[in-house]
Amino acid sequence: MNEPPPDMPCGKRAAFTLHSRDPLNGGPPLDLIDRSDLTPLDLFFVRSHGTLPAIDPAGYRLTIGGLVERALTISLAELRARFPRAELSATIECAGNRRDGLLAIAPIPGELPWGAEAIGTAAWAGVALRDVLRAAGVAPGAAHVAFAGHDQVERQGRSFGYGGSIPIEKALAPEVLLAYEMNGAPLPPAHGAPLRVVAPGYIGARSVKWLAEIRLQAAPSDNYFQAHAYKLFPPGARPDTADWAAGLMLGELSLNAAICAPAAGARLPAGPVELRGYAFAGGGRCVERVDVSCDGGASWATAELLGARQRWAWRRWRALAKLPPGRHQLVARAWDSAANTQPEDPRQIWNFKGYMNNAWHRVVVEVE
Ligand code: MTE
Repeated sequence: MNEPPPDMPCGKRAAFTLHSRDPLNGGPPLDLIDRSDLTPLDLFFVRSHGTLPAIDPAGYRLTIGGLVERALTISLAELRARFPRAELSATIECAGNRRDGLLAIAPIPGELPWGAEAIGTAAWAGVALRDVLRAAGVAPGAAHVAFAGHDQVERQGRSFGYGGSIPIEKALAPEVLLAYEMNGAPLPPAHGAPLRVVAPGYIGARSVKWLAEIRLQAAPSDNYFQAHAYKLFPPGARPDTADWAAGLMLGELSLNAAICAPAAGARLPAGPVELRGYAFAGGGRCVERVDVSCDGGASWATAELLGARQRWAWRRWRALAKLPPGRHQLVARAWDSAANTQPEDPRQIWNFKGYMNNAWHRVVVEVE
């Protein structure tokens, strides 16, 4: 048994890599991330910007207001009793996943150096957000659904709550959940207990944890994490000169893939090598193919896709290669159901916040 050491927070496994302890940010070693379709709770990455709220489930109340016909205040017990249980296996991926590939090009101050571990897939259970919105009654003019969390974030000497929003069309889609269970267990504190949003196919930032309030409104959330952060700027833009209002407000995830094994820098014996990894399409598209190359992208083979073809969860893949002695650059790229594929060169997509790196994933290994 791999017991968490006393200093590993929130029941995470000893192998979990912490980027910061307070706020809690970390993820699993890549080698462990793709061992199963569902990521075990003690390995699931954590991305938090502020405090970790301790919420008593018995006293918890969710409020729904704004452009609704009836404002609601609902306890957890009422939520469970009043709305049908909804279940979905879905991947959460942070917009900062694979930032390390952009950091290799130029510094990105003030952001965490995520590798390809800021992603995980869980079996979520809760209620469909749309059932709750229908109970409140969507009033005319409601175009966005804004979420606010109970956590407090510090930025430039100011303290404020975390929030974000999704368009009403997405909020009314069946896949968006208010989740109280993760992999069959009550939602763990680090992942938003007692209730969080799960907005599959969207950047993880919109899956607001420790959910306090839902507001229907005409415009997107004006919270810092929607109106300022999680925006995409062109490669030439810089934080001090950028027009922050003009940045692309991130929503749907783009197609991504990573090699989880062998590890970067691995020294391998000569003979057959198994390449393993994950691919995730985002936006409700499906992963259709994963290509792997053992010569830096000069020639390609098709990987075997594992598990079922699905819209909201990643697809694990594997490929066997025979590598002669020497240095080899292994590469992976995916294709989705809209025939999208990934950019070859991360310099084309570099941005000063380090979001959405989905360039071909490259791993250099040495065969003896
Ligand atoms: N919700 C709140 N309230 N506070 C946060 O800091 N982080 C967001 C999102 N929801 C965050 C939040 C981000 S950026 C991501 S990627 C996901 O939670 C990560 O979910 P996880 O920690 O359960 O993996």
